[in-house]
Amino acid sequence: MVWPKSQTQVGNHVHPLLRPHDLRLTVFSTFAFTTHCKKIILSMIMKLLLSEKRIQQRVGFLARRISRDFLGREILMVGVLKGAFIFMADLVRKLKIPVRLDFVRLASYGDGTCSSGKIQFTKDLECSLRGKDVLIVEDIIDTGVTLQYLYRCLKARRPGSLAVVTLLDKPSRRKVSFQADYIGFQIPDHFVVGYGLDCAEEYRNLRGIYIVK
Ligand code: PRP
Repeated sequence: MVWPKSQTQVGNHVHPLLRPHDLRLTVFSTFAFTTHCKKIILSMIMKLLLSEKRIQQRVGFLARRISRDFLGREILMVGVLKGAFIFMADLVRKLKIPVRLDFVRLASYGDGTCSSGKIQFTKDLECSLRGKDVLIVEDIIDTGVTLQYLYRCLKARRPGSLAVVTLLDKPSRRKVSFQADYIGFQIPDHFVVGYGLDCAEEYRNLRGIYIVK
C-alpha cells in the first residue's frame, strides 16, 4: 500500500504560503507593502515644513546661544509636556553647561478648538525655583495663552531669572502678547505635526515637522 504524502512533504505541490521560508517572506512583504501604503497616504495628507536636518541645525544654534548666555551658571529647564519632550531631549544634549530638568503639564479648558484662557496645571513642578536660573522649554507658541499663564505662575515662585525657548512660534495667531527669548522658527498659521507635536496624539514621533493639508 502506498501512503499519501502529507502537504508539507509534497514540496513543490504545497501552496507557497504554507512553506515556512516563504511564509516569512510573505509576512515581510505584506509588512513592507503596508508601510509603503502608509507612506503614500501620509504624503497625500502631509507636506514637509522643516526637515530633520534643518531642525537639528537650528537646535544646535539655540544650544550654542543658550550655553553662551548662561556660561558659568547652571540652568533648570522646565519642559512643557507633552509636545516639548523631543525638542528638550535634543536641546539638553547639545548644551555645554550644567542643567537640571523638571516638567509641567497644563490643560486649557474652553470650546475645544482653541485656548480659552482658562489654564490649569495637571502636573506641577517637583522642585523649588527660588533663586535658580530657569528656562521654560516649549514646542510651540500659538495664541500665547499657555505661556503667559505659565510664565506668570513661575515668576511668582521667585526664580533668579526666567527665560523661554520655543522651537516654533506662530505670531499671527497671538491672542495675548508674549515674546520668547529664544525662537527656533517662526512659522505661518498651519496645523503642524511631528517632532513632538501631535494630531489626536499621533505623529509625535516623526523626525521632521509636517503641515497637515
Ligand atoms: C500646545 C503646545 C503649547 C500650547 C500652545 O500644547 O505644546 O503648550 O499648545 O498653545 P497656545 O499658545 O495657544 O496656548 P497642547 O495643549 O496641544 O498639548 P500637548 O503639548 O500635550 O500636545
